[in-house]
Amino acid sequence: MVNYFEESGEETPIIKDENILLPDYVPDGLLHRNAELQGIADAIKPILRKGIPDNLFIHGPSGSGKTSCIRHIMKQLGSYSAAVLPVYVNCWENPTQMAVYNRIIEEMRLPLPRRGLATDEIFARIREYVRNYRKPVLLVLDELDGLRSDKLLYVVSRANEKQLMFGIVGITNNKLLLSKLDSRVRSSLRFSEMEFKEYKEEQLLAILEMRAEKALAPGSYSEKLLTKIARLVENGSARTAIERLWKAAKHAEKSGKQKIMIQHLEDVIQEQPAFKLPEYNLTAEELLIMEILEQGELRSSGLYERFTKKIPKTKRQIRNYLDLLENKGLIESEELEAEGMLRPKVFRRR
Ligand SMILES: Nc1ncnc2c1ncn2[C@@H]1O[C@H](COP(=O)(O)OP(=O)(O)O)[C@@H](O)[C@H]1O
Ligand SMILES: [Mg+2]
Repeated sequence: MVNYFEESGEETPIIKDENILLPDYVPDGLLHRNAELQGIADAIKPILRKGIPDNLFIHGPSGSGKTSCIRHIMKQLGSYSAAVLPVYVNCWENPTQMAVYNRIIEEMRLPLPRRGLATDEIFARIREYVRNYRKPVLLVLDELDGLRSDKLLYVVSRANEKQLMFGIVGITNNKLLLSKLDSRVRSSLRFSEMEFKEYKEEQLLAILEMRAEKALAPGSYSEKLLTKIARLVENGSARTAIERLWKAAKHAEKSGKQKIMIQHLEDVIQEQPAFKLPEYNLTAEELLIMEILEQGELRSSGLYERFTKKIPKTKRQIRNYLDLLENKGLIESEELEAEGMLRPKVFRRR
């Protein structure tokens, strides 16, 4: 009897290791980001000697390697020294002050009473830990625009006035975010700014080559294919580039081929926006919104910005299109509690 889990001998998989092509894979080596990696390390270094670190505000477009770089540095920091506790928080996933504290407590491995603690009690525990162990926290707030209020930053900056407790690295795609922070927070944290630029074509090619070599079977792709992917990526995003390679590889495998052809790539790019929704009869404006939201959820401000780059419309008009799409059940929106810094609504595809 055959075991149906066993791969049949005739299969000729193109993808050797799919994980390597997935978005949260952190590669061992990051290409073309030496200056940025060094810059982050230099900003953090003083905290290892109990000095005041440069708080960093990192911004740059999606797919420019921000998350990968900070992850890489945190890993290196962890193996180099135990003088600091690095804590990574994705603010979209942990949008409240409490959620961020909980992440810190988790990394401190502190037990919490089951009855739960109030925010200030939790914060007191964090302070106690820093004092007792003389270990400041390197708090990395990725997707900083997901934070629902700047209260957290306020508390953290106040705490630093008495004793160094936190080094902060804030990361976002939105470079205007810093200017929207509460001015007291800004003046007390004194962020230095670091910009991640879009990757250039030849840099994307190098990144693709490295990834393809690890993830794909030898001979299953050509240099010409990778070059074409790098050339066609619109926004210098390594994420988009790798995703296209992955989708083209899947497509080729499904068609029973042993090699990814240019045609596979073209098919993938063609079908990419999921606006094959003829039954909805979407207008160009609605399609554009669907396309923009394909990369993930967005606040109205980000959405307006991207939309008006392609089609000039007023905010009010764009809001109407959003309402239409919501009525059709294609997108959903969520009101965020607005305690300060940002717009209160986020949109996503359903
Ligand atoms: N310099 C690089 N070298 C290799 N892979 C990279 C590099 N920069 C980004 N990537 C890859 O591109 C994808 C997106 O990178 P990410 O760090 O998540 O970008 P961002 O956080 O700026 O949106 C990830 O899969 C990452 O592994
Ligand atoms: Mg990121």
